[in-house]
Amino acid sequence: MKQNDIVVDVLINNSGIGNWSWFEEQEISFYKKQIDLNITSTVSLTRLFLDQVSKKNTSYLLNVGSLGGRFIIPKKQVYGATKSFISYFTKCLQLEQAGSNVRISLLSPGGINTKPELLVLNHSMKGISQATIMEPEEVAKQAIDGLFRGKKEIIPDTINRLLAVLDKIIPFFIQEWIIRRKLKMIGKKSVSKV
Ligand SMILES: NC(=O)c1ccc[n+]([C@@H]2O[C@H](COP(=O)([O-])OP(=O)(O)OC[C@H]3O[C@@H](n4cnc5c(N)ncnc54)[C@H](OP(=O)(O)O)[C@@H]3O)[C@@H](O)[C@H]2O)c1
Repeated sequence: MKQNDIVVDVLINNSGIGNWSWFEEQEISFYKKQIDLNITSTVSLTRLFLDQVSKKNTSYLLNVGSLGGRFIIPKKQVYGATKSFISYFTKCLQLEQAGSNVRISLLSPGGINTKPELLVLNHSMKGISQATIMEPEEVAKQAIDGLFRGKKEIIPDTINRLLAVLDKIIPFFIQEWIIRRKLKMIGKKSVSKV
């Protein structure tokens, strides 16, 4: 890019891999790859992007996090932690870049039907979990719209915004109680030991 005098005005850090598995079920190599892609590449590309942005024109950075980065969701242990990182990193950069020409947004979506295996998993969900699922086209539309309007955090869909508010007001011990009940329902025996 530098060699060809190309200036990048918009960077969307979208690539990322998830998981839906107990911690012991994945190899270390999987977690290393996940951390590398979800965290290291986002930090590296952001660093390169900020180095070359124009001082005159407005530039835009969108980091794709997840609502999963806010909630403690068993079976998403490392994935959720990488998305918490993205949230902290992005909110910190917003403060550091305040007053500059760079608009920085965090996208925090709930579940999205992006591929067949997620479609199957999402269809198996019930109640509120099912209601939070969105189609990728709608998430993309809200993300781009929010980015160009300079929104700090974009949480697509009302129900997901409501969940984010509930997360702030419901004490963690109640959330933990709900999670333990869910875990018992899906048969994770070790929860009864704690
Ligand atoms: N789907 C959801 O329910 C959901 C919910 C919240 C947040 N998100 C976030 O949204 C983003 C997109 O997710 P998605 O559901 O669209 O996933 P996806 O369909 O699996 O797409 C993942 C993207 O990451 C790229 N990628 C995967 N491994 C890579 C690697 N080793 N090196 C470079 N690029 C790689 C893929 O590139 P190729 O196409 O070239 O393989 C693809 O563009 C992720 O950051 C994810 O965490 C997803």
